[in-house]
Amino acid sequence: MRNIDTQILAEDDAGIAAAVEILGSGGLVSFATETVYGLGADATNDKAVARIFEAKGRPQFNPLIAHVADIAMAKEFVEWTEEAEKLAEFFWPGPMSMVLPLKKNSGISPLVTAGHSSLAIRLPAHTVAQQMLTKLGKPVAAPSANISGKISPTTAAHVLADLDGKIEAVLDGGKCDVGLESTIIGLINKPTLFRPGGIPIEDIEGALGNRLNLETSPDTLVAPGQMSSHYAPGASVRLNADGWRYGELRLGFGPVACDLNLSETGDLIEAAANLFHHLHTLDARDGKSIAVSPIPNSGLGAAINDRLERAAAPRP
Ligand code: TXA
Ligand code: MG
Repeated sequence: MRNIDTQILAEDDAGIAAAVEILGSGGLVSFATETVYGLGADATNDKAVARIFEAKGRPQFNPLIAHVADIAMAKEFVEWTEEAEKLAEFFWPGPMSMVLPLKKNSGISPLVTAGHSSLAIRLPAHTVAQQMLTKLGKPVAAPSANISGKISPTTAAHVLADLDGKIEAVLDGGKCDVGLESTIIGLINKPTLFRPGGIPIEDIEGALGNRLNLETSPDTLVAPGQMSSHYAPGASVRLNADGWRYGELRLGFGPVACDLNLSETGDLIEAAANLFHHLHTLDARDGKSIAVSPIPNSGLGAAINDRLERAAAPRP
């Protein structure tokens, strides 16, 4: 594969302008969002989107989320519904993506939707991402900016560890606040949870005024975040550890003695923000196994446990 000189762009006007220039000419820019760093390309440019898959080493062409600058831009590309309006009102900008019917002749590359007639769309809250999207004036397709199957990046350094030499630039926006990918809600038929994430399921149900469909139908798209083994560190992962075993790297939650603590006070928001960061740090210690304290399954705990179960799953 070709080796590119990857630029690190600061989160100032010059950095954002450079990122927009690169995206506009078909290049790849990893950019900070409030969830994780995205690996962005102009969503209307087939070649640029194809390069995302090459850079990530993705096994298949899975559908990507299109990031937009505002609701008006979202409406240009998808059929808006009453439920979409409600969820956008409550949770945008923020860590929630909606899958909606793609408009005809939308101009979105079919690689973004994996050829399907629906599009996942998100309005991120990070100001750097917002400025970049507003200046570009086009949607940006972006999966998480990691090599396929590895831990999602929450700093520019994580991105470079995986993608240095494979992309044109990283737009550094500091450490991601939420630290977990967006919650994905399907709005094609009955509102359906496609992926737990940065907005708790209970909050989405509260906004919609009804329960989400949790069943995955046979034709639900299978994408990397939904593969049983994903977010995998080099070490094996042992969950729900009530005590530690000799030689384990210890990832704690609550008031326990450990190597790194997701949240000493048992705060799930703090734990979510630290999750990928701590996994990266422990992974760099080259241990054989990482043990993780039990984590309650309420609120953001559902998304944290989802990611941990995938990190612990048998590797293909
Ligand atoms: O927080 C996030 O969502 C991050 C940041 C960068 O925005 N992005 C992210 O993208 O996590 P990625 O590619 O790692 O995950 C995309 C997910 C897939 O799991 C897939 O299931 C879902 O989006 N998806 C995309 N398009 C879809 C579609 N048309 N129908 C159903 N699911 C879709
Ligand atoms: Mg990902």
